[in-house]
Amino acid sequence: MWLQEFYGAEVVTVTVDVGQGEDLDEVAARAERLGAVKHYNIDARREFAENYVYPSIRANALYEDRYPLGTALARPLIARKLVEVARREGADAVAHGCTSKGNDQVRFDLTVKAYAPELEIIAPARLWGMSRSEELEYARRKGIPVPSTHKRFSIDANLWSRSIEGPEIDDPAAPVPEDAFEWTVAPEKAPDKPLILELGFREGVPVSVNGEELEPLQLVERLNRLLGLHGYGRIDHVENRVVGFKSREVYEAPAALAIIEAHKDLEKLVFTPRELRFKRLVDTLWTDLVYQGLWVEPLRQHLDALIASMERYVEGVVRLKVYKGSLTILGRSSRYAGYSEQLASYVEGWYPSDEEARGFIEMWGLHSLLALRARGLNKG
Ligand code: ARG
Repeated sequence: MWLQEFYGAEVVTVTVDVGQGEDLDEVAARAERLGAVKHYNIDARREFAENYVYPSIRANALYEDRYPLGTALARPLIARKLVEVARREGADAVAHGCTSKGNDQVRFDLTVKAYAPELEIIAPARLWGMSRSEELEYARRKGIPVPSTHKRFSIDANLWSRSIEGPEIDDPAAPVPEDAFEWTVAPEKAPDKPLILELGFREGVPVSVNGEELEPLQLVERLNRLLGLHGYGRIDHVENRVVGFKSREVYEAPAALAIIEAHKDLEKLVFTPRELRFKRLVDTLWTDLVYQGLWVEPLRQHLDALIASMERYVEGVVRLKVYKGSLTILGRSSRYAGYSEQLASYVEGWYPSDEEARGFIEMWGLHSLLALRARGLNKG
């Protein structure tokens, strides 16, 4: 509406379905009603699940140990679709709804610049100088419907997570109102009977639930539903934004949290200690790049190649128990397990001799003991 008024522009609207669960026919009708010359609904759910969400599982992508990157992963895909439509329509510019305070503008702008440097980028919310309440007033005047939760919270949902921001939770000490949540029941209201699940992994990604093979999209949808009913998947943390300040962020991400928890567990069964420690560094690098809007950065692709090579052997089954908002791993197995029960057992099997153990310990600690002696610090 604002683009039409301000620029006299012909506006083509695009909505990309990344699993946000919106009524897209309603969106199309609304676009037409508000004067769009054309509207595109693009179903990118499968592409999102397979090419964005699944690689993030391999990378255990939890930004600052908490946030599964749902919003951050979807932005580059949406931007790419936007560019495709702009090209098809011969547009001179693309527009998006991000403000100047968030991470999302960085992700959209950078991805568009990477794929279509010739396109102008217009971000009306960075230009029009309206506050949130003035925006709501503008929408009311123009007859633009705004869902009621969006009046209190800024929501961004997709297959992988539901992000919740808003004035009522900007104070990091304030509790989150219960009605901010949609995907998860309150843990104390969850069923008394725990949910037991078996997640099967192959090449570092989940492929089955309780032995039933599922496509990525179906698998994630199913887990979100099942785990959310058991009160699992809420996140509340303070996050370091790209744009220079901290913000209080609340999310619902039942499938994401459970899958990554199980995946990390399986990696520990399979990887050598060196692989494991190195992988955690790589995971953090990958996650930071994607959070920071640098999906297009060449290093991300190099890291993906490295990760794919390491994940070849991350295969097996993890058993989980979910009970009133908490998740426990009951057990794990893999044909690539670098684990020997015979070696680990205190009851039977092989024991190093006293002499072998002493020799090992002597040489293992030698660097440290020599340094202590050299510094005169070995006297207690
Ligand atoms: N802080 C998250 C991120 O940067 C979520 C942002 C989601 N946007 C929203 N309007 N709730 O990825």
